Amino acid sequence: MPIVALKEMLDDALNRRYGVGAFNIVNDLTLKAVLEAAEEQRSPVIIQTSIKTVKTTGVDVLFAMWSEMAKKVSVPVCLHLDHCPDRNLISACLAKGWGSVLFDASSLSLDENRRQTIEVVAEARRYGAAVEGEIDSIKTVDEVAASSQATHHHSVEVSLAFIHDTQIDCFAPAIGNAHGVYKETPTLDVQLVSDIVSAHPIPIALHGGTGLTDDQFKDLIGRGCAKVNISTAVKMSYMQSNLAFLKQAESADRWDPLALFKQVEKDVKVMAANYMQVFGSAGRA
Ligand code: 13P
Repeated sequence: MPIVALKEMLDDALNRRYGVGAFNIVNDLTLKAVLEAAEEQRSPVIIQTSIKTVKTTGVDVLFAMWSEMAKKVSVPVCLHLDHCPDRNLISACLAKGWGSVLFDASSLSLDENRRQTIEVVAEARRYGAAVEGEIDSIKTVDEVAASSQATHHHSVEVSLAFIHDTQIDCFAPAIGNAHGVYKETPTLDVQLVSDIVSAHPIPIALHGGTGLTDDQFKDLIGRGCAKVNISTAVKMSYMQSNLAFLKQAESADRWDPLALFKQVEKDVKVMAANYMQVFGSAGRA
C-alpha cells in the first residue's frame, strides 16, 4: 500500500536523518510529475495542497485525482493540507481522506492556538491522520521585506510546551525562513531546530525551501528537519516550462497542447527529482 501515515514516514526520516520533500502541487500535471519523480528516485514523498489549490480544484476532484494516481505508485506517499487556519476546510479534508493537515493558528493567541490545536489533533486521530502545528507565523519574503519591526519568536521552552500539550506530529518553527524567492540567502536560526529536537525528538517542518542552498538543506535535515516544503520552485518550474514551450510554439506556429503537457511534466519531474537527491530521500523507499 503506497499511501502511508505521515507520522510513520517522518519518524523514519527523522531517525535516519533524511528529508522528505513536501511539494505543493497545483493541478493534475504537477501531481503526476512529482509522483513520477518519487517513483523513479525510489523516494518517499509528501503531496502538499494549499488552501487555494483545494478551493480551485475542489476537495472531491482533487482527492479523486490523488487517490487514482497514488494507488499506482509503489513508494510511500502521503497527502497533506498546507497552512490552513480554516477549521471547516480542515474537517472537510480530513473527512475526505487527507493524511495530514497543518493547522495554522499562528495568528491566534498562544493559549487559543493550543486549545484549538488540541481539538484538531483529536479530530485527526479519528481518521488516523497527522497534524503539523505552528506558533510563530512563517511569512512571505515580501511580508518580511515590508515589515520594519524585528519579528518576535517564542522561546524553545514555549515551543516544547506547545508540542507536549498538543501532541502534534510535526512542528513548523519560524527560523528566519520565508515563503517565496529570497532576495539573498537567509541566515537561519538552525540552533532552534537542534534545541527542540534534542529535547523532544519530533520531526521538524522546514518551510520556505525554495532558494535555500544545498548546504543549508543538509545541515537542517541533519538537525531534524524531516519534512522540507517546496512550493515556489514548483510554480516557477511549471510556469517557466510553459513559457519556454509556448514561445517556441509561437515562433514555429505549431500548437500541440499534449506536447506542451509532456514537456512541462518532464521539467517539473526533473526539478522534484533534484530535490529528492539533495534531501537524501532518494533510494530510501
Ligand atoms: P517556498 O514557496 O518558499 O518553497 O515555501 C514552501 C512552503 O513552505 C509551503 O508551506
